[in-house]
Amino acid sequence: MNTLGNKLRVTLFGQSHAPFVGVSIEGLPVGMRVDDEQLTAFLARRRSSGKGAQTSRVETDEPRVLCGIRDGIVCGDTVAVIFGNANADSSAYDAALPRPGHADFAALMKYGKDFDLRGGGPFSGRLTLPLCYAGALAVQILNGKGITVESRILSVAGETDAGRFDEIMMNARENGDSVGGEIALTIRGVPAGMGEPPFAGMENRLSAALFGIPAVKGVEFGDTKAYGSENNDAYGIRDGRAVPLTNHAGGILGGITTGADITAVLKVKPVPSIAKPQQTVNMETLTEETLCIRGRHDACILPRVLPCAEAAAALVICDMLLGG
Ligand SMILES: Cc1cc2nc3c(=O)[nH]c(=O)nc-3n(C[C@H](O)[C@H](O)[C@H](O)COP(=O)(O)O)c2cc1C
Repeated sequence: MNTLGNKLRVTLFGQSHAPFVGVSIEGLPVGMRVDDEQLTAFLARRRSSGKGAQTSRVETDEPRVLCGIRDGIVCGDTVAVIFGNANADSSAYDAALPRPGHADFAALMKYGKDFDLRGGGPFSGRLTLPLCYAGALAVQILNGKGITVESRILSVAGETDAGRFDEIMMNARENGDSVGGEIALTIRGVPAGMGEPPFAGMENRLSAALFGIPAVKGVEFGDTKAYGSENNDAYGIRDGRAVPLTNHAGGILGGITTGADITAVLKVKPVPSIAKPQQTVNMETLTEETLCIRGRHDACILPRVLPCAEAAAALVICDMLLGG
C-alpha cells in the first residue's frame, strides 16, 4: 500500500538502489504557487550531511518534476517528481543474509528472493525523500491557513539533556553501534471537530501515516499520567470561549480534535545496520553466519526523521481539511 490520503493522494515509488525514487501527488489545488525556497530548505533537513552520525551516502536530492508544476505553479491534477539515486553502492549487500532488525527477513518471507532489497529496497529511509517533497507542499498549504507543524528531538537513548545528544550519537558510531530515541511533534492551529471516530479519528489517521516512516515504532498522543486527577484537562472560559485549560489530551479526545495543539511523541528505534558483528542465517544454504555490515549507514536518524514526521502529519491534516 504505497498511497496515503483520500483527497490529497500521495503515492511513493522506487527502491534505494533503483535509478530513482519518486512520488505522485494528486489533489493539490490547481493554481497553488510553490515556494521553492521553503521546499529546498525542508528537503535539506532530511538530507544526510555525510558527517557525524549521518550516513556517508550523500545524494543531491535534486527534484526532477515530470509534470504538474509549471513556472512554480501547480498546473495539473497530478504532480509527479523523481529523485535520482546516483550514490548507491550495492556491493556491500548480500541478498542471502538478512540484516537483523532491518526489513530484509520479513520481506524475503513475504515476497521471495527476487525482491530488490539492496540498500533496504523500498524499506529504505531513501523513500522518505519523496514523502518530504509532498509533505513540504502540504506544509505550505497549512501555513496559509495558520496551521504549523513542528518537531524536535526529545531524548536520545533515554537522555533528555540536548547538550549531550551529539556526544551520545558519536559514541554509538565510534562503537560500531547505532542509537534511537524520541521525537516530540506539535501541530498548532488545527480547528476543533476534525476526525471520524472510531476508526478514522485524528489519532488513527496521524499514526497510520507516521508509522509509514521506517524505524518509527511508537506514536503516543498527549499524556497518560497515572491518575485521572493529573491527566484530565479542566475547562474554563477564556476570551468568551469554552476551552480546555491544560492540554494533557494532546489536542484530541474521542478521536476528535479539541482545537488545542496536537502533541505526539514518536519512538524511533536505533538504526538496524550496525558495524558490530551480528549473527544471521544464509537463506540459501540455511546455515548460520556472522554478518559484518560494510555499507554506509546512519548511526542515529533522529535529526533526519524530524522533517519526515512533519511531512507525514502535514499530509494527513491537509487531506482531512480537503475533505479526505
Ligand atoms: C531517514 C532514515 C534513514 C535511515 N537510514 C538507515 C540506515 O542507514 N541503515 C539502516 O539499517 N536503516 C536505516 N533506516 C531505518 C530502516 O529503514 C528501518 O529500520 C527498516 O526499514 C525496518 O523498518 P522498521 O524499523 O520500521 O520495522 C532509516 C530510516 C529513516 C527514516
